[in-house]
Amino acid sequence: MSKKTILTGITTTGIPHIGNYLGAIKPAIDASENPAYNSYFFLADYHALIKCHDPERVAESTRAIAATWLALGLDTDKATFYRQTDIPEIPELAWILTCQTSKGLMNRAHAYKAAVDANREAGREDLDDGVTMGLFSYPILMAADILMFNADIIPVGKDQVQHIEMARDIAGRFNHQFESLLTLPEAQVNEETQLIPGLDGRKMSKSYDNTIPLFVESDELYRLIKLIKTDSRGPGEPKDPDDSTLFQLYRCFASPTETEQMRKAFLEGISWGDAKKQLFEYLDATLTGPRQQYKALMNDLGYVEQILHKGAEKARTEAARRLSAIRIAAGIRPLTYVAPRAQAEAEKKEKSAEELERIEAGRQRAILLQLKPLLDQVANADDKPQAAKKLVAEKQAEVEQLKKKARQKAQNELDLLTQELAEWL
Ligand code: TRP
Repeated sequence: MSKKTILTGITTTGIPHIGNYLGAIKPAIDASENPAYNSYFFLADYHALIKCHDPERVAESTRAIAATWLALGLDTDKATFYRQTDIPEIPELAWILTCQTSKGLMNRAHAYKAAVDANREAGREDLDDGVTMGLFSYPILMAADILMFNADIIPVGKDQVQHIEMARDIAGRFNHQFESLLTLPEAQVNEETQLIPGLDGRKMSKSYDNTIPLFVESDELYRLIKLIKTDSRGPGEPKDPDDSTLFQLYRCFASPTETEQMRKAFLEGISWGDAKKQLFEYLDATLTGPRQQYKALMNDLGYVEQILHKGAEKARTEAARRLSAIRIAAGIRPLTYVAPRAQAEAEKKEKSAEELERIEAGRQRAILLQLKPLLDQVANADDKPQAAKKLVAEKQAEVEQLKKKARQKAQNELDLLTQELAEWL
């Protein structure tokens, strides 16, 4: 059987908390280790713009979420990890799908309906008050995210299930109207991880302001755990583990044996203070390594950016291929397009121009890699302009002395050096 594709997006409006970790991040990373799946995980920053109009917050959340997934050990050679806005094919597909989506379907979207209901309850005359077209079309952008990669399985929270159903509807409509190019996705909801409780015992969620951020410092972690709601039962009084937020959180992290021990301790009347201390110690030990890794990555965002670029490159190769077929199916074609056979030829030609470009870019990259030690010398020099000038002058002298063929090679190097060091020259 061929591999199933699993895909999910994370809206970049918040800083990951323990509920996100247990409910979404950990299961996704685990799935990406499973050879039965191809996995795609992305930062949904176009979706962030719908809900959040604070640029700093979107930017900070994007950094934090990217660093979090990497700090927790996501292997980006196995999973394709990218940022939605690095894939221009997605909004392009969203438009094509917008033209296939009935307005009535969007009228039924929960998020939109909730906004309308709130306006009605507030007695506003304009029921669409405060509703942007982004909010209204949100499910179409999400359908594009999913259909772009022919994803089969979409792990999401319950609140998102309707969006996956809409993506199916939209894909079905496209397939029926044009050509069966789009896979119908299925939502995957893990009931258990929907129930991670927050500080006040309700579901851990930013909107309840009851979260434990994943990578807070140890003392802050302890402070938050001490805020977890308990009842008035004193030390020595038996406590019901299944009714305790502390116990629920502990079991999410601990092994079955450890969980059983804790259950026993509850029944035997462990004090709330001790239970909090044990939860803290367990969580802190589990999170210390990733927390350090997270800090290191947040201090090396250039590296994180590179990883995202690598992911985008992988994702775009596939997206561009699929979008090209989708466009053709919908009638957006090169003027010279005639029939499938002629089309195949045309595509071949298009590809070879692209290929040439790619080869050229690859060649430049390879040379740059060799030149890296030299560039580093300049980067590390106290007097960068001087170091840069000296280096270029030396290369120039080398070029002068060489014979034709070798000369061309050195000339290429010289050109790239001049380009890379332009700001110092
Ligand atoms: N809307 C999702 C959320 O808020 C995030 C998201 C965007 C998404 N695009 C997606 C999830 C595609 C799954 C698949 O949680």
